[in-house]
Amino acid sequence: MNRGRLFVLLGVAWLAAGAVCLAKSNSAVVSIPFGLAGLFFVGWSIVRAAWDADWGRSASALEREQSAFERKRVNMLQLGIIGFGGMAGEHHRELKGYDRVSVKGIYDIDPAREADAAREGLVVYESREALLEDPAIDIVLVATTNEVHKEICIDALEHGKHVICEKPVTMDAAELEEIIAVAKRTGKVFTVNQNRRTNCDFVLMRRQVEAGLLGEVYQLESAVEGSRGMPDGWRNIKSLGGGMLLDWGVHLIDQLMYMYADKKVTSVYCRMESVHYPEIDDNFELVMTFQDGPTGCVRVGTNDFITHPRWHVMGKNGTLEIADWDCNGKVIRSLYDEKAWANEIVMTKAGPTKTMAPRNAASVETIDLHYPEDVRDNLLVVYDGLVDAISGTGELWVKPEEALRVMRVIDAAFQSAENNEVVKTDI
Ligand SMILES: NC(=O)c1ccc[n+]([C@@H]2O[C@H](COP(=O)([O-])OP(=O)(O)OC[C@H]3O[C@@H](n4cnc5c(N)ncnc54)[C@H](O)[C@@H]3O)[C@@H](O)[C@H]2O)c1
Repeated sequence: MNRGRLFVLLGVAWLAAGAVCLAKSNSAVVSIPFGLAGLFFVGWSIVRAAWDADWGRSASALEREQSAFERKRVNMLQLGIIGFGGMAGEHHRELKGYDRVSVKGIYDIDPAREADAAREGLVVYESREALLEDPAIDIVLVATTNEVHKEICIDALEHGKHVICEKPVTMDAAELEEIIAVAKRTGKVFTVNQNRRTNCDFVLMRRQVEAGLLGEVYQLESAVEGSRGMPDGWRNIKSLGGGMLLDWGVHLIDQLMYMYADKKVTSVYCRMESVHYPEIDDNFELVMTFQDGPTGCVRVGTNDFITHPRWHVMGKNGTLEIADWDCNGKVIRSLYDEKAWANEIVMTKAGPTKTMAPRNAASVETIDLHYPEDVRDNLLVVYDGLVDAISGTGELWVKPEEALRVMRVIDAAFQSAENNEVVKTDI
């Protein structure tokens, strides 16, 4: 009962007591003050009741709000993280502002990482089994070193969890096929964090190509380079899934295959260098050919003091260059076919040339490119797809079969580098 109703009842009871008192004592000395007090109480109770009714309304609005929040919280899927290192920390940071998935707890083999998680207020499970057996966990993020991705993904799926695995999803395509088979058998959703599909430099490049600014594109060069060498730790150890092809290559290959999803990869050629780290590829160059074009050239270097542009894309009518992740770039495209000078010999510092002479500036236009502020470049895009697929309201943003195609290209690249050969593919 709310307070308003209680006070009205008390007032009526007081009035009734006054009436009984009057009937019994027949004494105005007792009954008049008692009756006045009763009337005052009723009046005051009515005022209180009105106040409380309002109060009651706002209280129930508050209750409604609270229960909506509770419902939302209950509806949020709970995530358990296995491997709480640098990248898992990034997931945790981004998920803090997300209303569809919340991080419940973690398991890591390193006590220091467990202490980090405890400081963040997360549950720290004593074993992987304990995390996987928690019925409150809906989704498992696998963010360990690469060599154990397969084993942990399969374990999580067998425990009835949906799984998101960090890239590279596995060490090779055969391992991924095993995971996909288990996901199909258990009916659980499985995806891979190929998050660089949202990167602004990639989206900006793709928009220009798809808007037809360059005409028909026949070659895309995608480079990520630095000169600081490899970071310490597992990335230098082959058996743990180290090396640049698996680390960065998987992103750059995925971007191109995502862009040309309807085209098969018909050949792969890859050269690897081990400049400072003998056990792994700390640099590589890869050429992949899509059926009926274009050619994709991927270059990753950890010992490059003067870097190539992030993107250099050539079409029949123009060229695009994006220098860096800040998206400084431009498109230069032809306004008309400049064959007029074809017979003219142009003198350059390197001698006479017709073909390679600078072009007449009036025959081209330059379009400056800038950082596309409208692009949603974060991990939550992958989580949106995952939650949609779990709830049956939409599709995964990164499908396992797409990751499988990328891993097949990576397998072909290792084979190519080992044998110094072009590997014909049908991927
Ligand atoms: N998507 C991206 O942009 C991106 C960026 C960086 C890293 N990654 C990927 O994320 C994964 C982790 O990379 P990182 O940079 O966070 O490495 P990291 O070394 O910082 O973290 C790995 C963590 O896994 C833990 N671990 C290893 N084996 C384990 C096991 N069997 N059980 C539980 N915990 C275990 C380690 O103790 C460590 O805390 C790798 O697959 C990496 O390729 C992805």
